[in-house]
Parts: sequence; structure tokens; C-alpha cells
Amino acid sequence: MKLKNKSKITPLIGLQWGDEGKGKGVARIASSLSKNDLIVRFQGGNNAGHTIWQGGKSYVFKLIPSGIFGRAQIHLGAGMVVNPSAFFNETKTIPKNISFLKRLSVSPHAVLILPTHVLLDSVSETKKGDKKIGSTGRGIAPAYTDLVSRNALRVGDIFQKDFKKRYQVLCDQHKKILLNLYKYKVSSEKFKKSEGNFFSGIKFLKSLTIKNSADLVAEILAKGGKIIAEGAQGTFHDIRFGNYPFVTSSHTIAGGVATGLGIPPSWIGGAIGICKAYATKVGEGPFPTELGGERSAVWCRDKKFNYEKEKFPNPGPNSKDEFRQGVALRRLGNEIGAVTGRLRRTGWLDIPLIKYAIKINNATELVLTKLDVLDNFKKIKVCTHYIINGRRTTDIPFDLSREKIKCVYKSFPVWRGKLEDYDNKLPREALDYVRYLEKTLGVKIIYVGTGPEEHHVVERYW
Ligand code: GDP
Ligand code: IMO
Ligand code: MG
Repeated sequence: MKLKNKSKITPLIGLQWGDEGKGKGVARIASSLSKNDLIVRFQGGNNAGHTIWQGGKSYVFKLIPSGIFGRAQIHLGAGMVVNPSAFFNETKTIPKNISFLKRLSVSPHAVLILPTHVLLDSVSETKKGDKKIGSTGRGIAPAYTDLVSRNALRVGDIFQKDFKKRYQVLCDQHKKILLNLYKYKVSSEKFKKSEGNFFSGIKFLKSLTIKNSADLVAEILAKGGKIIAEGAQGTFHDIRFGNYPFVTSSHTIAGGVATGLGIPPSWIGGAIGICKAYATKVGEGPFPTELGGERSAVWCRDKKFNYEKEKFPNPGPNSKDEFRQGVALRRLGNEIGAVTGRLRRTGWLDIPLIKYAIKINNATELVLTKLDVLDNFKKIKVCTHYIINGRRTTDIPFDLSREKIKCVYKSFPVWRGKLEDYDNKLPREALDYVRYLEKTLGVKIIYVGTGPEEHHVVERYW
């Protein structure tokens, strides 16, 4: 797939709650890029899990941009939080024949995730009990908290003589919080090991090219290169405009590209918005179209995939019980968290939310993924409106989780057989669904995903 907009950065942004297929989307673009182009992450950390298929094998990228198998330069931008040992380990998963170190650079402004940030994240979540966010436990919120409270250590700091001293001061502060606030004593044995891994990661970081994100972007654009900004998480995880407080701690929306790379907003072009043909969510928070509602939310909170498989050996996609339909959607879509292995909650596509996401990201093109997952359903639904306090609306309320929302649905019949059998065309029913979405959302769908691998797509022909 070729990028349209050469003179500006193209953000690729998830329009839902993450896991929309951003990794595959970026990898497809990457295959058309050259060494004069750039793929950059601008926020988040190893809470992301972006799956791509390469040579019949799947890889899950958490920090490394998903274009690593192409020829473009890759960059971990200023707005990111980087766990050095997780980063080092991730680079070891790349096959030896892929030379990427010369193409890789990291911003000095990116924030370091310390082993104590990871502890703070999991311990504080456990203490929240039923008020938990369902974080990935990777230390994301504590690391961004330190940035905002002006205590953070950043990648550029590792080259300073007093780095170890400053590390110790911050680490001791965290240990005090753990003990005094959460009554958690850090076990020295286990902690020594994670600290050892942290410093191996720091050594690795020191061997890399450290480059100011804004300078790199400016150089590439000046030479006419193309830039793709790979979003992590989804629009509704945005710290300000997502379903607060069930969000992550960074700006996941296209606006985050400007602050996450330190560039003027005028350098950012229209975004490629990416969404599934249905909806999923990992962790807590409002989900108006969830199949099975609260029952599903509670089930997914506590259950592991194998247990669910035992309980529902034949989960019916056409069951009258919506909860079971949700189980089927999860099973057919393999909706298991790529980072934590948690069950993803499942539901129908939510038009009001997607409309809002398109608007705030300036999504000028859409990618619709995982349409093939609906192959086994007889009927699918989309939520066209909400009814809130007796009023029909497509507006998103200030706090979704505090409103009693009734979803109004439109049903669509499903095609016969499998999408893959239709020879790179869509059956009439699928085309009706796609055309309806384009008309309702007012944005063109550039391709439809029909399977996990890069070639599993139907390019726009309609
Ligand atoms: P990301 O976080 O947005 O990159 O998405 P994830 O990788 O977490 O989750 C998307 C999952 O769906 C991955 O396992 C992909 O391999 C898979 N996937 C992506 N596009 C499609 C598609 O069109 N059809 C199917 N069946 N799977 C897809
Ligand atoms: P990708 O990039 C789906 C969710 C967590 C939790 C909330 C906050 O693969 O789409 P955090 O660890 O960030 O403090 O968790 O956000 N979450 C994701 N859900 N996909 C992701 O990333 C996510 N990253 C975080 O489950 O609800
Ligand atoms: Mg993911």
C-alpha cells in the first residue's frame, strides 16, 4: 500500500480501544517504503502489542515500530515511555538476517520505565480492588506520572555521570511509596534481578543512535521522504479524550503526534483511521455495545482462555444468548490480549464512537479489519444511535460510564461461506455493510482485512 501524503506525517490511529490491527496496517505500508522514509512511535510503551506476520511467523511488537521488516528508518519518539530491558529483549526476537540497528534511533526525551515503576503499577492496581483500570501492569502510568511531576529520568540522562545516583534517588522514592502507601516491601532477591536486566537494557540503549525526534522528522520531510506515525492503544484510551479514567496515560489521538515528536501540528496530514468490523476492549471501563453486557465484563475480568474454552466448547455465533455470541466472537477473532493474555471483551461496532474518533483524529481514510471473523454469523449488528434519558443521539456524553445508555442497532445479513473464497472481491452482503459504513461515517474505506497476514485484504475496488 502506498502513502498518499508525502509532504506530511500520516498518523495511523486506532479508532476504538486498541488492537484494531495497527501492526498489520503499518507493516503493509512499510513494504512500500524506502530507506529515505520513516516509521515512528510517538507515545505509549510496552503496553502496546502489535502483531504482524512475516514469513509465516507472527511477531508481537511492543516498543519497536511495526515496520521493522521493511527498509524505512525506525524511531522511538519523544512521547514514549521505554522500558530498557523490555526493549533489549524485543530486539532479540528479530531474526538475525534483518539488519535494523543502523536504521533505528531513539529520542533522548523518551522517559525511562524503571523496575519500581512496574511494581508501582501492579501493586497500586491490586490495591484499587474493584476500582482498578485493568492496566497492563507495565509501569506506564507511574512513568508518565514521574514525567508530569518532573521527576522522570529520560533516555538522554543515561549519558550523564550522575545517572546511577539519580536512578538510586528515584528508586528509593518509589520504594518508600510502595512501603508507606501500599504496605509493599520490595523483595531484594527478585528486585536485584530486574535491576540487573534494567542496567543491561541501559547498556544496550547507550549503543544506539540517540536522535531528537523533531530533527529527524524535519530532515526526512525536507528530503521528500514519507513518514508514518504508528499509534498505540486506541482513541478511547486517550488520557484526556478517552473514557477517563479507563484510559492509558498518553495522548493516543493524532494530536499526540505533535507533542509526542515535538513538531508543529501543520506537519501532520490526514490520519488513516483503523477499526475492526466489530468492537473489543481489554480491561475495565464502559463498553455500550458489549455482547452480554455486565456479565461479559465480569467474565472477562476473571477468566483465562483455556477455562473459557472448557466451559464453552461450542460457543454459538448465532446463539440467542448474546453473552454466548460474545464468546463466539472472541473465539473466532482470537481476541486474547497480545501483551497480557487476558480475554478481550467483545461487542458490535459502535457508530457514535467511531464518528467521534474520525472527527478528533481527522481520519481521512479508513481501514476496516477482521471482517472475516464475522463469516460464521448469520446476522451482524451495528449500533447507529444511543438513547440517553429518552433522547436519541449520536453525541458522546462527557462520562460514558455514568450514563444509562440504550443502543439502537441496525442488522445486516451475513454472506455465505468464507470471505477468502470470494477471490479478492467482497460478497454482496459484505459490500452492503462496507458501503453503509462509508456512507454513515463519510470516509472511504481503503481496504478490508480478511485474515491476519499482510496479503489477507481486499483493496478498495467498489
Ligand atoms: P494492534 O494492537 O492494533 O496492532 O492489534 P493486535 O495485533 O493487538 O490485534 C489484532 C489481531 O488481529 C492480531 O492477532 C492480528 O494478527 C489480527 N488481524 C489483523 N487484521 C486481521 C484481519 O483482517 N482478520 C483477522 N482474522 N485477523 C486480523
Ligand atoms: P495496542 O497498541 C488494548 C488498556 C489496558 C487498560 C488501559 C490502561 O496493542 O492497541 P496501561 O497499561 O496503559 O496503563 O492500561 O489501557 N491498554 C490496551 N488495550 N490495546 C493496547 O495497546 C492497550 N494498551 C493499554 O488494558 O485497560
Ligand atoms: Mg494490540
